[in-house]
Amino acid sequence: MKKNNIVLIGFMGVGKGKLARKLAAFTGQFAIDTDDLIESLENKTTKRIFEKYGEPHFRKLETKCALWCQNNINNTIISTGGGFYTQQNICSIGKIVYLKADFHYILNELKKDKNYKQKLEKRPLFVDEKKAQKLYDDRALAYEMVADIVVDIRHTTYKHVIDEIIKATK
Ligand code: S3P
Repeated sequence: MKKNNIVLIGFMGVGKGKLARKLAAFTGQFAIDTDDLIESLENKTTKRIFEKYGEPHFRKLETKCALWCQNNINNTIISTGGGFYTQQNICSIGKIVYLKADFHYILNELKKDKNYKQKLEKRPLFVDEKKAQKLYDDRALAYEMVADIVVDIRHTTYKHVIDEIIKATK
């Protein structure tokens, strides 16, 4: 059975964390982020976890985090890491909202940010642009398949995206 959470999925840099906080402020709920939960569990940054133990270990931590969310979290906005959509129980955690944008849109938006370099550096799988594009292509369809709701976030406002999510998750 689905729980009463909203789970934001989508590619790195699409703005899941920022939107989760805006949505939380709008609805009066709390927002949590799976990367933050994993970082707290390990007391290490995601980048450090990748460097020290490798990606498979990070994915195991995501599985632990997904089970914890399913067992403990309700009535919350949950933003997730870009690879979290593969967690087998993700649909039990809540309504899945895919924040959709094409790779070039995401990249261009990131490049507009004055902290662009730091934003890429903390994401091990986005450091190499070509590999990131390939990863995007590999995942694009899967995000849509997992999602209950797909929201195109290009050329629009946070207000509009929030309205769409609220309407679709009522
Ligand atoms: C990842 C996305 C990252 C983080 C990790 C792996 C991915 O989160 O979980 O670096 O596999 O796409 P963001 O989507 O918040 O950047």
